[in-house]
Amino acid sequence: MKSILEAPFIVDMTRALDNMYSHGWDERNGGNVSVMLDPAEVAEYLDTSLVLRRIPMTFAEPALDGKIFIVTGTGKYFKNAKYDPAANLGIVRLAEGGAVAELLWGFTDGGKFTSEFPAHIMSHAVALAKSPDHRVVMHCHPTNIIAMTFVHSLDSREFTVDIWRTCTECLVVFPDGINVLPWMLCGTNEIGVATAEAMKTARMVVWAQHGIYGTGKDLDETFGLIETAEKGAEIYMKTFGHPILQTITDDNLREIEAGFGVKAREGWLD
Ligand code: 13P
Ligand code: ZN
Repeated sequence: MKSILEAPFIVDMTRALDNMYSHGWDERNGGNVSVMLDPAEVAEYLDTSLVLRRIPMTFAEPALDGKIFIVTGTGKYFKNAKYDPAANLGIVRLAEGGAVAELLWGFTDGGKFTSEFPAHIMSHAVALAKSPDHRVVMHCHPTNIIAMTFVHSLDSREFTVDIWRTCTECLVVFPDGINVLPWMLCGTNEIGVATAEAMKTARMVVWAQHGIYGTGKDLDETFGLIETAEKGAEIYMKTFGHPILQTITDDNLREIEAGFGVKAREGWLD
């Protein structure tokens, strides 16, 4: 059996968490990440027939029964994950119709998966149905995205188009846009259901006055999505309230579509 601390899924995860913390997106225990793993790869590092603990969930996701995830622990600080992956992370397999999480590794201090597990697992189910390559759900608290939810309308189209206008790459990177949810209590099944529903039409979902969710096929791609949205929001906030002398116009956005071979979400450009 190979050493699990050298497994690519642990190394990539701790690097991503460290990077997210360095970007200021994950104060204290803010944020959570889960990645769906390849069972054959996990079996190179773990005896997957050995269940350490069974952790009941408050919801069931039958479509993901048997799937294995690496996930951040609730209350854990991203900045600490690289120093003690086994306490800050866990590897779980969904069982019993996707209603129980079987702990295969990690959460060594008796901890459990993030309080946002409903939003993660429900979003994984939706994203996987959209794309078989889907693997990652990432949640964090980027300052400018959150700030924007105080001063901008929460209409998803208006919110997205104003970010698309901030820099050329935004439309290129997320032509499907960002769906925005109003403030809701976090950590609940209800916000999980609403997030997963919103994931049907976009890979990013903003929680007003809280943060953002991104989904993707790997950690780099998902990080890059959020990074680009946060860059746009930063420019928006830096220019907000100043006289705007020029911007990316609707005609320019159409040029970006043609130049980069991307298509803005149907009906979102005039
Ligand atoms: P957890 O520590 O339970 O992951 O919660 C952090 C968070 O960001 C809640 O939305
Ligand atoms: Zn959060």
